[in-house]
Amino acid sequence: RYNKAERDKVPERRTKELDGYVGFANLPNQVFRKAVKKGFDFTLMVVGESGLGKSTLMNSMFLADIYSTEYPGPSHRIKKTVQVETTKVLLKENGVNLTLTVVDTPGFGDAVDNSNCWQPVIDYIENKYEEYLNAESRVNRRTLVDNRVHCCLYFIAPSGHGLKPLDVEFMQRLHDKVNIIPVVAKSDTMTPDECSHFKKQILNEISQHKIKIYEFPDTEDEEETKLHKVLRDRVPFAVVGSNTVIEIDGKKIRGRKYPWGIAEVENLEHCDFIALRNMLIRTHLQDLKDVTNNVHYENYRCRKLAGLGTDGKPTRISNKNPLAQMEEEKRDHEAKMKKMESEMEQVFEMKVREKKQKLKDSEADLQRRHEQMKKALEQQVKELEDKRRAYEKEKQVWEQANNVTLEELRRRSLEANSK
Ligand code: GTP
Repeated sequence: RYNKAERDKVPERRTKELDGYVGFANLPNQVFRKAVKKGFDFTLMVVGESGLGKSTLMNSMFLADIYSTEYPGPSHRIKKTVQVETTKVLLKENGVNLTLTVVDTPGFGDAVDNSNCWQPVIDYIENKYEEYLNAESRVNRRTLVDNRVHCCLYFIAPSGHGLKPLDVEFMQRLHDKVNIIPVVAKSDTMTPDECSHFKKQILNEISQHKIKIYEFPDTEDEEETKLHKVLRDRVPFAVVGSNTVIEIDGKKIRGRKYPWGIAEVENLEHCDFIALRNMLIRTHLQDLKDVTNNVHYENYRCRKLAGLGTDGKPTRISNKNPLAQMEEEKRDHEAKMKKMESEMEQVFEMKVREKKQKLKDSEADLQRRHEQMKKALEQQVKELEDKRRAYEKEKQVWEQANNVTLEELRRRSLEANSK
């Protein structure tokens, strides 16, 4: 959560009463005239899987100005790798000019392996910060063009099953680089109960994963506080987009017509589209720009000046900064020690495994030899038994042939010997 001091950076003041009219009460008018003359610019990024209705929502949001010719619809999309496409449109309303840049990321999350598909998005955002930083350091700073991304609408698929790992990964990697506003795409595909349950689930997961989404600023103004509460209660904004205008009782309505009824885009009872559009354009455009400048751009500058890379780790050129260099060496050393430790553990485990295998092998060998000896002995016993039986048979045949038993013969011979 970004606090008020961080946003506004206003030093403490003392109030003084004036004796007469000086004229600086007219200052807001001067600023107003100048701002109107200069016009406004705003860069909005849309991220989400293909087919979630990003183009349709952008067209619905800024009405006919974008989608007709300038903004590429789905049919124009050929490549499936993640790229970043920008469309710039000048919108005019009651004499006020808004240069809107829509940054789209076709191909995001469409591959089988989506690892690093956020990298082109990070590169684009950081690149714009880098351009701005370089422009600020030039001698002529009068024509400073702000192409930084002021807001990222992240489209969540209306699955009813919470965030996908890719959603979590994307938001975690981007939340300290850009204002993320999560939106539930195609919310007309869910019943109101399912939708509010899905929203709660998403908010829970966002806080569980410590993801910092765009927070409405703290304010002392009662009206604003009320408005912020209403808006906060609608986050993540459940949106419906449509390029079709339907006529009912002579009234033209942007919506999606179904056999059972019409999902109206600009009806707060049907979806949060109007709340999101009002917030983005009418009430919080300037705050989104302020947070981009005071928080995200400052973070980028700090990382850059500290010689850190986009991921917060020291870059190779950090030898310009001794502190960052020391930090890098310390991390390198720790990483080396950890690697050595894990290698030693691996060797130890391998040795233990080898010893165990050897013991098992010799045990099996002994068992095998024992079996062999047992078999040989059994064979010998069997052979002896056979021999004994053959002898008995032979003896019996001889005794029958001679009509005398061997015992009888032995007894007679003993008697003859004793005489
Ligand atoms: P890519 O251009 O491929 O990145 O897709 P995308 O995210 O821009 O989606 P697109 O706006 O082209 O919409 C894809 C399809 O979804 C179209 O057929 C739209 O009519 C439809 N669609 C857009 N918004 C909604 C919505 O809110 N509800 C429903 N039910 N369908 C929508």
